[in-house]
Amino acid sequence: MKSIKTAGLIFANPFIAASGTFGYADSYLDFYHPDLLGGFVLKGISLEPRKGNPPMRIIETPSGMINAIGLENIGIERLIKDKIPFIETLHSVAIANLYAETKDDFIKLTEKINEIKRIDAIEINISCPNVKSGGMQFGVSPKMTEYLTKNIKKVSSKPVIVKLSPNVADIGEIAKAAEGAGADALSLINTISAMIIDTKTMLPALANVTGGLSGPAILPIAVRMVYQVYEAVSIPIIGGGGISSANDALQFVMAGASLVSIGTYNFISPASIPVIIKQFNNEVKKTDYSYSDLIGIAHRQHST
Ligand SMILES: Cc1cc2nc3c(=O)[nH]c(=O)nc-3n(C[C@H](O)[C@H](O)[C@H](O)COP(=O)(O)O)c2cc1C
Repeated sequence: MKSIKTAGLIFANPFIAASGTFGYADSYLDFYHPDLLGGFVLKGISLEPRKGNPPMRIIETPSGMINAIGLENIGIERLIKDKIPFIETLHSVAIANLYAETKDDFIKLTEKINEIKRIDAIEINISCPNVKSGGMQFGVSPKMTEYLTKNIKKVSSKPVIVKLSPNVADIGEIAKAAEGAGADALSLINTISAMIIDTKTMLPALANVTGGLSGPAILPIAVRMVYQVYEAVSIPIIGGGGISSANDALQFVMAGASLVSIGTYNFISPASIPVIIKQFNNEVKKTDYSYSDLIGIAHRQHST
């Protein structure tokens, strides 16, 4: 497959490891080299280190998991000092995932990332359901999405990808707000707000009460949202949510995604992305269409 140019970046293949499931690109070295990926998104990073939420904060569910990690991370200074030197040795597209509670902190974080040459793009997380402030609060409002995206675009020297929340009534409206504010690409979906009750203790099982559902259980919802966003905007889409096979990935491409992301499946089968990439290339060949013709083809097939 030819490389894919999206948002001014060149991806060797359409597969991206999703934020929060791939550490700082050094977690899966026992299984494969990150250069086999089109790109990877680092764990969400904030200005200061964060401890995240207390346990229980991860629960397995039928065909998925619920997490309420609460954006535990090492903070920007340690990212620069301890993790960037390894990332500098890599060649695939490196995307930083940013989290802040206020616009001003998002701006400060963006300015810090501007200084890191090896980071190719930023993904702004305005869709985390597991933190008290910031996160999803921004991403469920078109006005806030527009305001934040506009301000970050003003200072960012790198392409800006806005990561959308599925926890909204009309995802097309939020996508349009991000596009209108100058976003270079959109990424969707983040996890779906969910909860589990422990029937023995009769309490919510997560200390945070609610968490975010991910994994194969959410795939059809994510495909639907990518399909809707493709109709609403013309900027590129990174689509994901529950992908665990080449065929799953192909669904996202046909719905309108230019690139696809794999998250939770990394925990289930840590060596799998390179295998899926090979299978995906074969699946694409079997269709007799070029990769670029397959992007959004379900819309065109539907209207003929
Ligand atoms: C344990 C865990 C941590 C995550 N951390 C982040 C994060 O820091 N920033 C972010 O934007 N998304 C985060 N996500 C969301 C994933 O990147 C992805 O959007 C979501 O899980 C749906 O894809 P999947 O079903 O393939 O996992 C996290 C997901 C999981 C399961």
